[in-house]
Amino acid sequence: MTDLFEPVKASIATTLDRLLPRDSLIAQPMVNAMRHAVLGGGKRMRPLMTCAACDAFSGDYRVALPAACGLEFIHAYSLIHDDLPAMDDDDLRHGQAATHIAFGEANAILAGDSLHSLAFQALAEASGLSDAAKLRSIMLLSQAAGWSGMAGGQCLDIEAEGKELSLTELEELHAAKTGALIQSSLVIGGYCAEVDPSDPRLALLRQFGGRIGLAFQVVDDILDVTASSETMGKPAGSDEALDKNTFPKLMGLKAAQMRANELLEESLTLLEKADLATAMLTELANRAVRRSY
Ligand code: IPE
Ligand code: IPE
Ligand code: MG
Ligand code: MG
Ligand code: MG
Repeated sequence: MTDLFEPVKASIATTLDRLLPRDSLIAQPMVNAMRHAVLGGGKRMRPLMTCAACDAFSGDYRVALPAACGLEFIHAYSLIHDDLPAMDDDDLRHGQAATHIAFGEANAILAGDSLHSLAFQALAEASGLSDAAKLRSIMLLSQAAGWSGMAGGQCLDIEAEGKELSLTELEELHAAKTGALIQSSLVIGGYCAEVDPSDPRLALLRQFGGRIGLAFQVVDDILDVTASSETMGKPAGSDEALDKNTFPKLMGLKAAQMRANELLEESLTLLEKADLATAMLTELANRAVRRSY
């Protein structure tokens, strides 16, 4: 069976490789660490969402590729830092040594720093996007990645280890640490299609992104309990070992699965309402929830 995403995935792979540095006179170990973290694996959910959203608004997904790769650079940096001893202290990522294990902690931290910058460079230098679309995308990505989004959520995640959050607080945590970046992947795809920012379909896409982004982390929590390290390519049981707040811990596995399914249903309804229920966006929403790794 041919994969609906094969051509887009291939374009993403080529663009990631092209945008990443290869040789450096001053920082070769860090550059090697950047390439290891990004090219070592991953489902590419966020860049696929950017391309699929651009396509859903009748844009050419190829125009969205630099932005899509920018999203993946931020994601890859977040995983490098997430695995560090000071954070989740995990040694395995994408079935290979985590970046700090392969290249040392200093190079891993610096590779994260550089991937963060590279994301915004990719957007600023994207050919084929209007200046307005670039600026909107940069504004949204900076919000989604920073103190009120991913990094903020990671702070809360660490602070809350060993304490019990309420379900509402946990939803807020997950919406920030994972939901914000996924939501921005989709909206930036719309910006790349040069959609008017006041287009009501964008507001619905944003709501869809919020639901599916939250569902994605609920499923990540479930897999941490139910899947093996071999299947996931990262250590199973990491959350329990660190006494993290997770959906299975707070509400039980069955209720967590039901919450993920409910979020999927809500998100698909929003997509229909926006008239954006293309094969790619619908399939990505399903894969965010019905996945084995
Ligand atoms: C893992 O994300 C971390 C979370 C935010 C849940 P992914 O499951 O998208 O990671 P890769 O890139 O596919 O490995
Ligand atoms: C990490 O969540 C979310 C990020 C922002 C990186 P997790 O800590 O659960 O991600 P995994 O399970 O290590 O991939
Ligand atoms: Mg973590
Ligand atoms: Mg982790
Ligand atoms: Mg996890």
